[in-house]
Amino acid sequence: MRMRMPPKKRTAIYPGSFDPLTNGHMDVIQRALEIFDEVIVAILRNPSKKALFSTEERLEMIRQSFNGNSALKVDTFDGLLVDYARMKHAVAIIRGMRAISDFESEFQMALMNRKLHKDVQSVFLMTGLRWIFTSSSIIKEAAQFGGDISDMVPKPVKRKLMEKFPLLAENLHQTQTKQGTR
Ligand code: PNS
Repeated sequence: MRMRMPPKKRTAIYPGSFDPLTNGHMDVIQRALEIFDEVIVAILRNPSKKALFSTEERLEMIRQSFNGNSALKVDTFDGLLVDYARMKHAVAIIRGMRAISDFESEFQMALMNRKLHKDVQSVFLMTGLRWIFTSSSIIKEAAQFGGDISDMVPKPVKRKLMEKFPLLAENLHQTQTKQGTR
């Protein structure tokens, strides 16, 4: 009798800095979860790049934002992305694509990754239109000067941004108070 093997789990890696996670990233993760059995959000440990949040803070924010989805894993990596993908037996690397401006660098990175590891495919997912202009850096810049970024990031990220930027916390508390007294 021939034994039927269980279908192979299809794992995708979603790598990035995630400093911090935005609703645009969340949108891409949700789309990836519809295609793959398992998605690993992999934060690059990069001591040479100055980040607002520590790697541990970023891990925690992503975990809190995706509470309870067993198909989603969060991890860190260093060195080459393709080596990490190989170690995880991933079939794909996910990257979000917002606009034409993302294309050139993503194209270059995807081709380099293919050269280094031909069996992993780069898969580009379009974010929802409402997130087309968001990025971690623009959100950090707005938050730093007290700009309301509430609907651009998941709640755990908003809380951490308020901790980092007192002006943001002050402005958001004021808005809440105004709404409460109306
Ligand atoms: O969110 P980011 O900063 O655009 O993510 C970039 C990231 C982490 C995906 C990229 O820098 C990366 O994969 N770095 C690891 C080193 C590597 O493998 N580079 C690609 C081949 S040169």
